[in-house]
Amino acid sequence: MLLPQNVIQKKRDGQILTPEEIAYFVQGIKSGEVADAQVGAFTMAVYINGMQPTETANLMGQMKDSGVTLDWSDAEFDGPIVDKHSTGGVGDVVSLMLGPLVAACGGYVPMIAGRGLGHTGGTIDKLEAIPGYNTNLSIEQFRQVTKEVGVSIIGQTSDLAPVDKKIYAIRDVTATVASIPLITASILSKKLAAGLENLVMDVKFGSGAFMPTFEESRALARSIVDVAKAYGTPTTALLTNMNQVLAHNAGNALEVKEAVEFLMNQNINPMLKSVTVALGAEMLVISGICNDIHDAEKRIEHALTSGKALEVFSKMVAAHGGPIDFVERYDEYLTLSEVKYPVYAQQEGFVQTIDVKEIGMSVVQLKGGRAHPDQELDLSVGIEAMLPVGAPVQADTPLCYIRATNDADAQRIAEMVRTTIKISAEQPSTEVAVIEKIS
Ligand code: URA
Repeated sequence: MLLPQNVIQKKRDGQILTPEEIAYFVQGIKSGEVADAQVGAFTMAVYINGMQPTETANLMGQMKDSGVTLDWSDAEFDGPIVDKHSTGGVGDVVSLMLGPLVAACGGYVPMIAGRGLGHTGGTIDKLEAIPGYNTNLSIEQFRQVTKEVGVSIIGQTSDLAPVDKKIYAIRDVTATVASIPLITASILSKKLAAGLENLVMDVKFGSGAFMPTFEESRALARSIVDVAKAYGTPTTALLTNMNQVLAHNAGNALEVKEAVEFLMNQNINPMLKSVTVALGAEMLVISGICNDIHDAEKRIEHALTSGKALEVFSKMVAAHGGPIDFVERYDEYLTLSEVKYPVYAQQEGFVQTIDVKEIGMSVVQLKGGRAHPDQELDLSVGIEAMLPVGAPVQADTPLCYIRATNDADAQRIAEMVRTTIKISAEQPSTEVAVIEKIS
């Protein structure tokens, strides 16, 4: 008789698991017959020994089928269904603009997004900074809003890939997050359960990415694209830069403010724009809305400059229960903490490198991200107006500002942030937004 420990032992010894063994283990996680300690041992064995592509695909398929899968075939959309997913970053507010931009170009974007994880921020936490925005729509409401507005962003429901939720919580506390097969299975089980027709992945590399090296980020992109395609979902991945905070700001309300101002064509961060336009254009091409990537970029640009995407964003917020005049009065609706404390460079030169993971952790320390799974967040805190790599500074130039609830927190975090930013006499080359496409 097969037991969970037999499966763990096989993976511990570096052997290849059969489809039956993977199905047995995943079903045991779902039913509760596999204990949390056994899940932890299994994820560590996979972390250390890896998986063959077929094992990863089988694990993903079992996790996807562990709950309900959405079917949009009777939704009668007059355009393709397309989504993007990111492996997680800091100041990564892309989804808030990208969903409306693609919807404004004729795509339908039913986006199931996540909460902050480790040092990275989460789209759902950000949206909750908008008073009244309901991230918990029923599947029927989700379909309705997607149909009427073109985009709806909700949180992970408990009936979609429930085994991923269990495995993820255990990986988070057993140091087994940064594993290519486990990330592949985790992301795709949720995305493919959502019934997408096309997917574009934003795979981060750099000091704020989950994977420690560029090569590993590239291998992760390859793994995700191959497994998704094996399941019949056209998928491409862009390798995008996380060597600096992607936006000007990192922190929930701060990032929503920046997203609205971006869609109003004010306050546009160049790196954020490059990544958003590249992903948007890729979504238009993969879903067949455009044939050519340059035309697609122009369509996205036009959706931005014409204000059409801002209109879609406004409709999405209202359809989710947020204020109908949110984009007109976002400054009044969003709460930013009172203390705004500058972090000075203290020497002349150029921003050489930024430890973006540490910047993400400083937001967590301010309570803008979670240190424990059930923690309530303070959505008003964060890092504001952060300089990019290559920026010239004087001793009295603010590298950024700390938004905190009190002076003591602001000073403590300012020290932490200052040590993560290296200043040099030589100007480094500016960071490139998108390095490579994997298809
Ligand atoms: N995001 C996910 O949903 N899962 C992972 O494993 C990593 C990032």
